[in-house]
Amino acid sequence: MALDDAAARPQVTAVPHLSGGGLPWFGPCWSFRRDPVALLRAGRERLGNVFGFPLLGRRVVFACGPEAHAAVFGAEETVLSPKEAYRFITPVFGPGVAYDAAPQEMSAQISHLLPALSPRRLDGYARIAEEEVRTRLAHWAPQGEVDLLSELNRMTVAIATRCLIGDEFQHGMGPHLPGLYRDLESGIRLAGILSPALPLPSFRRRDRARAAIARAIGDVIAARRAASAGAPDGLEREPAAHGEDVDGSDMLATLLAARAPDGSPLDDDLVTGILIGMIFAGQHTSAVLATWTGVLLLQHPQYVDALLAEQHTVTDGTPRLGAEPLHRMELLERCVREAERLHPPLLVLMRTALRELDLIGHTVPAGTLVMVSPAVAHRMPEVFRDPDRFDPARYEAPREEHRQPHALIGFGGGRHRCVGSAFAYLQVKAVWSVLLREVAFDAGHADFRPDYSTFIPGPVSPRVRYRKRSVPVPEQP
Ligand code: HEM
Repeated sequence: MALDDAAARPQVTAVPHLSGGGLPWFGPCWSFRRDPVALLRAGRERLGNVFGFPLLGRRVVFACGPEAHAAVFGAEETVLSPKEAYRFITPVFGPGVAYDAAPQEMSAQISHLLPALSPRRLDGYARIAEEEVRTRLAHWAPQGEVDLLSELNRMTVAIATRCLIGDEFQHGMGPHLPGLYRDLESGIRLAGILSPALPLPSFRRRDRARAAIARAIGDVIAARRAASAGAPDGLEREPAAHGEDVDGSDMLATLLAARAPDGSPLDDDLVTGILIGMIFAGQHTSAVLATWTGVLLLQHPQYVDALLAEQHTVTDGTPRLGAEPLHRMELLERCVREAERLHPPLLVLMRTALRELDLIGHTVPAGTLVMVSPAVAHRMPEVFRDPDRFDPARYEAPREEHRQPHALIGFGGGRHRCVGSAFAYLQVKAVWSVLLREVAFDAGHADFRPDYSTFIPGPVSPRVRYRKRSVPVPEQP
């Protein structure tokens, strides 16, 4: 019994509270903003796996560890609601989309996407990823310095845009996209817990960016519908049966072919909202995961030779990347998994308690914001041996530390586990497969501390030196 009615469990106790954390209404707001991971880790060390604190007028309960995660991720929506907790994202997704829809409606929206994430489609996305990385690399001088996060962000913007919305959108909006996506993401701030409609400059930029992206997607949808209506046979494409794959190369094609239960096409605003939601959920998160993967390899260069050997074994005789060769890059996968564990892009996941409940032996009152944190949980020594150490071997048999249920939660768990995790891994692996083979990096004077001023924290200043492998190594004096 992990999560149930408080009354049904005799040994239920009140949640211990973090004391000395700021003014009563604000709570430890400034410490949370400055470094949420340090605050939550310190709280856990003092008070255990479940503790509470006030935050901007809300009662927060933090829950940590596989047992608590199982309880939170397994809870019914009527008990712990992501919809209520993530209201601050509605201005990005749009009204009636994802968390703003009723839970069954959100599941239906996600199910329209699933054919676009099938293994066959992932194979095509791997090729797009390789092309986009090579295109971007062509702009790099033979050697020099780059900001790893902003370069990987450009690459994932191009990859996500082509895989989701297609070439015409990518070509039409190309240079503006990184800035627009950044404005969307920077509209997610702690103040959104109060209201995502506050008159803040970042919220205004978020709304302008969303409107610009939505207009451009609307134009692509209109053009595709017109082209489909004017097809030589004069017929619109056959609608896809629910969950069936269509022969489209991007997620927009899948959504345009999808049908509601009554047989009607999905509304254009809904298609637009789902696509913006997917970009928001998957683009910058993937860029940040790719960046931390690179940072960890720079900090642990002893792995690079083995990674290069794996690249040559897998790619020799393979003209282009696809899902299958990427799948065979096991050491690279384990390195990406260490990046997910040590630097999960989403620091906290949230639910709102719609009624009083027992969370692993503690009473949580209705209205509480319940948080779990991949960043804190992934450093629990009870779960991961020597947790602060970069150790890709922890995922090899017989250790397989990631197989413990709800231990590795960088992509969440239970009914709301990320549907894009395979795509994200494929993308990050494709990016590093090309970069490892083509470029040698060196940390230079980079500052790799996490930048908690952003919602999806990358390193503060990952300016690194590089040399294309086609350039001969200079002779040592
Ligand atoms: C490194 C990249 C990514 C990370 C770290 C990530 C992380 C997460 C996490 C932690 C959740 C669960 C949220 C919660 O339970 O509160 C989630 C949900 C979700 N993610 Fe991802 N994600 C990534 C990439 C993607 C991509 C590429 C897509 C789509 C193409 C995507 C689509 C979604 C969707 C639709 C959900 C909601 C699922 C549901 O509630 O049923 N994500 N993601």
